[in-house]
Amino acid sequence: MAWDPSVYLQFADERLRPALDLLARVPLSQPRQVIDLGCGAGNVTALLHKRFPQAEVSGVDGSATMLEKARAAAPGCRFVEADIGAYAPPVPPDLIYTNAALQWLPGHESLFPALFARLAPGGALAVQMPNMTSAPYRALQVEVASEGPWAALLDGIKSALPILSAEQYWDLLAPQAAGIDMWETIYMHALAGEDAVVRWACGTSLRPYLAALPEEMRPAFLAAYRARIDAAYPRRPDGVTLLPFRRLFLIARHK
Ligand SMILES: C[S@@+](CC[C@H](N)C(=O)[O-])C[C@H]1O[C@@H](n2cnc3c(N)ncnc32)[C@H](O)[C@@H]1O
Repeated sequence: MAWDPSVYLQFADERLRPALDLLARVPLSQPRQVIDLGCGAGNVTALLHKRFPQAEVSGVDGSATMLEKARAAAPGCRFVEADIGAYAPPVPPDLIYTNAALQWLPGHESLFPALFARLAPGGALAVQMPNMTSAPYRALQVEVASEGPWAALLDGIKSALPILSAEQYWDLLAPQAAGIDMWETIYMHALAGEDAVVRWACGTSLRPYLAALPEEMRPAFLAAYRARIDAAYPRRPDGVTLLPFRRLFLIARHK
């Protein structure tokens, strides 16, 4: 199931908040080259451009559909369709900013030092990633996928990967860094409407499972997930569903 900006942006406000919290801590005033890695629909790329109007801001993403939306959302920026792991910026960037994207890539032990090494001297790598693998929201996806008539079809299907610990990222980057700012936040997202958590998941972590199922099987799979999600995240009498969402932030500054 390809990335769909209209599904992803259903919860645009909630998804934007961590992007802004990351941006607020970027310790640069006049970067010239800024890269938004995994820029998605470009709404955050436009904010990078607004914060650093003197910079050349480039968005990089692997999804043509997301990039089409991004080009319209941030007309002053350049966009490149590329895989994050393979992307080599033509000029060393002063800022590599990446919000909610690197959790989709394997091999963080080599990926993080490689991204950091691409920075210009004095530059910064700013990263935010969900840290939800053990939360019911994600654990129930794995559970439902492994039971029921779809189990064989979903065997081996992986969603966003578990990220490393904060300490491991520190150890990977500290030897080369002038300093690292790292923190974790649990957002208590107050989601409105019916099936809010399932709709949230359809925009991101549930996509690989849905993509692997024939269309006629998807409603039953979603119903099984919904039944367990409703028990773990009940809708409150005021209609709100609370989704606690843990995220890791890190900003590493190049020497
Ligand atoms: C959850 S969205 C985040 C989008 C944006 N950064 C934001 O904050 O709204 C993740 C994005 O990462 C992109 N992505 C995931 N893995 C990728 C890869 N290996 N190479 C390029 N883009 C990738 C997806 O296409 C998607 O647009």
